[in-house]
Amino acid sequence: MNTLILAFAGLGAVVAIRLLRSTMDFISFHLFPGSHTLDRYQRPGNTAWALVTGASAGIGLGIAQELVRQGFGVILLGHLKDEVEAAAAQLRAMRPPTDDNSNDDDARVRTYVLDARHATPSDLSKLVATLSTLDLTILVNNVGGNAVEHPPFRPHGTYSCADVDAVIDQNARFMARLTALLIPLLARTKPDARPTASRNRSLVLTMSSGGYIGVPYLVMYSATKAFNRGFGAALARELALDPSTAHVDSLVVIPGEVASQGNCRGVPASAPRWDVFGREIVQKAGLAVARGWKEMFPHWRHGAEYALMGVAPGAAVEKALAEQMKAKKQAWDEYLGKNE
Ligand SMILES: NC(=O)c1ccc[n+]([C@@H]2O[C@H](COP(=O)([O-])OP(=O)(O)OC[C@H]3O[C@@H](n4cnc5c(N)ncnc54)[C@H](OP(=O)(O)O)[C@@H]3O)[C@@H](O)[C@H]2O)c1
Repeated sequence: MNTLILAFAGLGAVVAIRLLRSTMDFISFHLFPGSHTLDRYQRPGNTAWALVTGASAGIGLGIAQELVRQGFGVILLGHLKDEVEAAAAQLRAMRPPTDDNSNDDDARVRTYVLDARHATPSDLSKLVATLSTLDLTILVNNVGGNAVEHPPFRPHGTYSCADVDAVIDQNARFMARLTALLIPLLARTKPDARPTASRNRSLVLTMSSGGYIGVPYLVMYSATKAFNRGFGAALARELALDPSTAHVDSLVVIPGEVASQGNCRGVPASAPRWDVFGREIVQKAGLAVARGWKEMFPHWRHGAEYALMGVAPGAAVEKALAEQMKAKKQAWDEYLGKNE
């Protein structure tokens, strides 16, 4: 009897310590993330560059804004020339004027027009050749969405083969191919910038989604976001095993609801805006990697929601998920009914 009580007490203590630790981690991560946590991916003389895919709007643009603020050169990749150029002009205007009025600062924001859904291996080779002349230290695999014919929220049984392929091409194929081709560039080292545990490193950031758990009316989107999550975690473990790539970090970003160009209907009022969320990603990524995490919820509310889902009764979680997705579907159906 005494042994049984002791065993339960021991188990309770272990659970309590784990709960306390994760609560402390949560509080310190969201309240005291520190500043300039991407310093480890900068290079002497601030020569480092970041490629952000899907960067003309939404979270990608928000990430690019904060990277520019932190002194990184950025290459904005998007599929529509006018939109990506407009985003670049906005970023250039953010930079404080230099004393000598040189164009150097403007040149630190570049654009690259490429359609993630239709990019061929030869298109990707051209992109890699362009990037090979730069000190590329950050790849942000951001481009993604639900690239199906309207309406966007509908049962999988209504998908055409083209719908299925479009989501795989945009969310999974493009980022997997691009990352494979860019790892050799990210892993390059220079004699004046030898990597250490906290300096001269490189980073692959991959956007997953809270939808990775599998949500109704977005079966392909959910599945590809689970792919992104597994991809980023596997990559982190693999890169760490090889001394020639151990200084390249990989971190998965898991957003919940974020108000953006793509996610603009049926979005809860509590959702952060794309620019706030993009800033949170950049400000917290270095800290998450330093803690040895393979993934992070940059926004406190998303982290809390997912932690709650882990302990709430399963039936309540299923009901809340179904209601949330029905509301989003209805918002889109109503909008399209009025406008198409
Ligand atoms: N917003 C959310 O609530 C949320 C939640 C979970 C995960 N995420 C993930 O976060 C990432 C960004 O989401 P977001 O909501 O910010 O997206 P968004 O507002 O739809 O913006 C997507 C960006 O990608 C560009 N783009 C679209 N199709 C492209 C293509 N075929 N090739 C190249 N660029 C293309 C868009 O350019 P155009 O403006 O020219 O179309 C835009 O700049 C995605 O991976 C998404 O799955 C978002």
